[in-house]
Amino acid sequence: MTTNELELAFEQAYGCKAEKMYFAPGRVNLIGEHTDYNGGCVFPCALSFGAWLLIAKNEDKELRFRSLNMPQTYEIPLDAIKPQPDRAWCNYALGCIDIIARRGGKLTSGYNLLYYGNVPAGAGLSSSAAMEVVTARAFTEEMNYVLHDDKAYRTELAKIGQACEHEYAGVMCGIMDQFASAQGKKDHAIYLNCDTLEFEHVPVKLEGIKVVITNTHSPHHLDSGAYNDRVRQCHTAVEQISKVHPIKFLAELTPDDWKEVEGSITDPIAKKRARHVVGEVARTAEAVEALKQGKIERFGELMTASHVSLRDDYEVTGPELDALAEAAWQVTGVLGSRMTGGGFGGCTVSLVRDEAIDQFKAFVGAEYEKKTGLKADFYVAEIGDGVMRLL
Ligand code: GLA
Repeated sequence: MTTNELELAFEQAYGCKAEKMYFAPGRVNLIGEHTDYNGGCVFPCALSFGAWLLIAKNEDKELRFRSLNMPQTYEIPLDAIKPQPDRAWCNYALGCIDIIARRGGKLTSGYNLLYYGNVPAGAGLSSSAAMEVVTARAFTEEMNYVLHDDKAYRTELAKIGQACEHEYAGVMCGIMDQFASAQGKKDHAIYLNCDTLEFEHVPVKLEGIKVVITNTHSPHHLDSGAYNDRVRQCHTAVEQISKVHPIKFLAELTPDDWKEVEGSITDPIAKKRARHVVGEVARTAEAVEALKQGKIERFGELMTASHVSLRDDYEVTGPELDALAEAAWQVTGVLGSRMTGGGFGGCTVSLVRDEAIDQFKAFVGAEYEKKTGLKADFYVAEIGDGVMRLL
């Protein structure tokens, strides 16, 4: 969809012109999975696909939500903003508006809103974070809640999106997805410390290598239950370790600390989860260093090790993601391959040499179909900028 087509769609939907237009991207995480809510580091990039939002004020003291991707429409009076039942898609937007109001923003008018997204649905590439961040960007402006420092402002947009996810979607997620959508930079990944929210943009200039995203199109999705279970299991591990070695987050432990404290975790599931987190935090730091030094092979090996740990200790991969990763590992010219995002279904991310891409698609696609009966989709990732106003 071009911006002109989106403007036209807005006029057709509401009979008036859009006043403003915004875009926020989805993300792919290169390494550092299930570390964000454990106070660890992540290394995601913003993608060139994401969510668009067009808005215009209305006279009716009502928020009207429409999407070019979803049939349901919603009309919410300004004095009745609260979570909507039946997993309503407008919750991802409504929650952001509510949170901005609670942080001091003033909503003085009704609005007509039109969303459009081109992040593949259910792919685990953060279509919901894109929708949250694009809404937060638009409504912080409308509600006079813009921070002057651009970096701090973007971090605030990410926090609004994360709070919305907690309160309006019931997923106790970390901040990675919303942060990548808010702070993304073209051709860079974001090395983010999720405890302090300090970060660094690291160039991802890979000579002759592409970041390839492969969609399982799996019917399994990360549901809030399985995700929130993992969050709880990590808390249990922190509590048990803290009896001998006080910590706030699992990410504070080095692999050496781990050897000393692992015996204090009596719950066997919590122990596996914690082992993943400690290993993944160390792998992420090493991977970022390797990338900076141009040691891409090492980066790839660490991606693969990350998948194995997510499969065996964190248990969030499942047969589809495993089938894709295991097939990818067999292709010459693949430096590394792993699941990305929350897990269960969704996508893998692989580093593939240019000359191996055709072979990669053919072999992985065929192996995957043989094992699962499903067809995979392949996208060469374009790393884009974070949230922006277009009009
Ligand atoms: C989901 C969550 C993120 C993060 C990842 C796993 O995408 O929204 O906060 O926890 O899973 O790394």
